[in-house]
Amino acid sequence: MNEENILQQSFDIKNIRMPYTPEEQKIIGIADSLLADRNEVVRGLESKVEKLSNKILRDVDHSKNWQPSDYLPDFSGDWHSDVKTIQKQSRALSDELLVVLVGDMITEEGLPTYQTLLNRVASTQDPTGNHESAWGKWTRWWTAEENKHGDLLHTYLMFVEKLNMHAVERDIQHLLGSGFDPGAADDPYKLLVYTSFQEKATHISHLGTARIGEEQGDEMLHIICTIIAEDELRHFSFYRGVMKDIFGADPNGAMTAYAHMMKKTISMPAEELDSNRNPRLFTDFSEVAQASGVYTARDYIEIMEQLNAFWKIDDRKVTTDEAIQAQNYVLNLPERYIKLAARRKNKDFNFDASRFDWIKQA
Ligand SMILES: [Fe+2]
Ligand SMILES: [Fe+2]
Repeated sequence: MNEENILQQSFDIKNIRMPYTPEEQKIIGIADSLLADRNEVVRGLESKVEKLSNKILRDVDHSKNWQPSDYLPDFSGDWHSDVKTIQKQSRALSDELLVVLVGDMITEEGLPTYQTLLNRVASTQDPTGNHESAWGKWTRWWTAEENKHGDLLHTYLMFVEKLNMHAVERDIQHLLGSGFDPGAADDPYKLLVYTSFQEKATHISHLGTARIGEEQGDEMLHIICTIIAEDELRHFSFYRGVMKDIFGADPNGAMTAYAHMMKKTISMPAEELDSNRNPRLFTDFSEVAQASGVYTARDYIEIMEQLNAFWKIDDRKVTTDEAIQAQNYVLNLPERYIKLAARRKNKDFNFDASRFDWIKQA
């Protein structure tokens, strides 16, 4: 057998699949045979993945394809006045907005963890590192677009005088070392439900910081966060489109995977942000994002409603008891959250900048 045949064989999901121990099986949450079926469905979507990738990803060489340096001071030119402008505009930003911006930026800088998640699952992984399969290509080119978000935000925030960038970078290192478990284990359906939801959530969050940045007088921040938000929206349309096909191919499996992810709630990927200094750091950050209106419980509910509509949850013909229960659960969930959010509405929030050593104390 030559090398090419070995490669082909190693990319066959039946051969990639490993037997799991009973402990591992508990983590995965579905039977090994079901997992194999789900991987076959997802691998079978190669042509859909290829088509969506071609439509959604930007051509790198296109003149309109942005790079971080397009929005940053040019150090080969009159950088001094560019830096002064950023410093001047950013002086007007509130500490609350700076906390949300830093949290968003740290989340973007966690990118190696997210690429690892896609590469952990048998049917979405890139088996060699530069494989020509549609999933391999998507994972790499999606990463290449996402990588610009952290680069741009990180560099921009370097010019904000109020920030303690050593503390921020310490927490990026902490987050990457801690990793992230979205609760999908090795199940491709659960992972794709997660990525669908999460891309929309980051779109909303970046749009929110763009809006508030503009209100507070930082036009450049508005532009930066808006272009990043646009990327997130394109990525969202990829993941939700793939997941829609999975609902078509395997409604029972897709429905139970969707309900599983919603039951454990979709956490943002910076969940493990907690540093030794503040063990509640992620919770504190999320509360500021909620209170400032950047990403709220209402947004969470709207994402669910949008996904329910796009995936036609109401009309899906599911046949197993588990899937019927799952369908009822996800259909009723937005209403339950609306009631819950209404009860919590009047909860006071007092912003305390000292909980974040990202902000220099006066
Ligand atoms: Fe991003
Ligand atoms: Fe994203």
